[in-house]
Amino acid sequence: MKSKDFLTIKDIIPREFIKLIQSAKDMKDHQTPQLLTGKTAALIFEKPSLRTRVSFEVGIKQMGGTSIFLSNNEIGLGIREPVSDVAMVLDRLVDVIIARVYSHQSLIELSNHTSIPVINALSDIAHPCQALGDCLTIFEQKGQLQGLSVAFIGDGNNIAGSLALACAYSGMNFGIASPEKYQLKPDIWKEAQEIAKENNTTMKWSSNVQDIVSNADIVYTDVWVSMGDEEEKEERLSTFSSYQVNEKVLSLAKNDCLFMHDMPAHRGEEISINMLDHPNSVVYQQAENRLHAQKSVIRNIFESSF
Ligand code: NVA
Repeated sequence: MKSKDFLTIKDIIPREFIKLIQSAKDMKDHQTPQLLTGKTAALIFEKPSLRTRVSFEVGIKQMGGTSIFLSNNEIGLGIREPVSDVAMVLDRLVDVIIARVYSHQSLIELSNHTSIPVINALSDIAHPCQALGDCLTIFEQKGQLQGLSVAFIGDGNNIAGSLALACAYSGMNFGIASPEKYQLKPDIWKEAQEIAKENNTTMKWSSNVQDIVSNADIVYTDVWVSMGDEEEKEERLSTFSSYQVNEKVLSLAKNDCLFMHDMPAHRGEEISINMLDHPNSVVYQQAENRLHAQKSVIRNIFESSF
């Protein structure tokens, strides 16, 4: 990593990107180094979680470490006490903080007040561990990343932003079909475009699903209402109604395209009822690969010779 932390895909040193995927695959197929023996991770989760919490807890155990789960009810980040106080206390007691937060700013504050690594387990703007697990899944399925085309349909949210950056880093073309109001955040779009240019890949936006899906190797979607956006539910469900990924949309992509979703999925909203069970769906492999990708991130941080 460029610094002690992994808060966004941009924290990865570009030449280490593929190595992170290869090391995840290597640990999936072979052994896991015991890099966390005698070490403790604090898992701060302000929002609910299935995949992220379980995959981190299992991964930390497989690497020889211990984890302590701290829900928002217990520590009330920024409410019961300031984020900086939580950070400075944990800095003296544990070896790594893994945090899922409402505001990305909380991660930055945790980072600024600690000497130990901070890993992003999802924020309002980024989910970099998901994007790495997704790249591992694509790599396993297609045997390569470079040159493939990813079509993201729906909200330009945390999942889309981290995926766009991961595509730019790994040489995949990225297209997003979203309503104009829900495009990727301008700063993330700009960064992704700059990196894509350096790596000779393309970044494309359209409000038209067909424009983006045609010829895609991967069709990806996520919920229309993310955690924290609940107040906008009605408006979002109506604005996104023509962005559902269903069998017809998938048929516009390549025959062997993968269907991906980070889950939880809302059948009947962003996907049709049977999409998760579609023969081209790799959603459960994606969920498993969170474990291996996150162990690779921990390895990168704790193994001096990575
Ligand atoms: N965009 C979703 C992803 C959940 C893993 C959310 O932030 O709620």
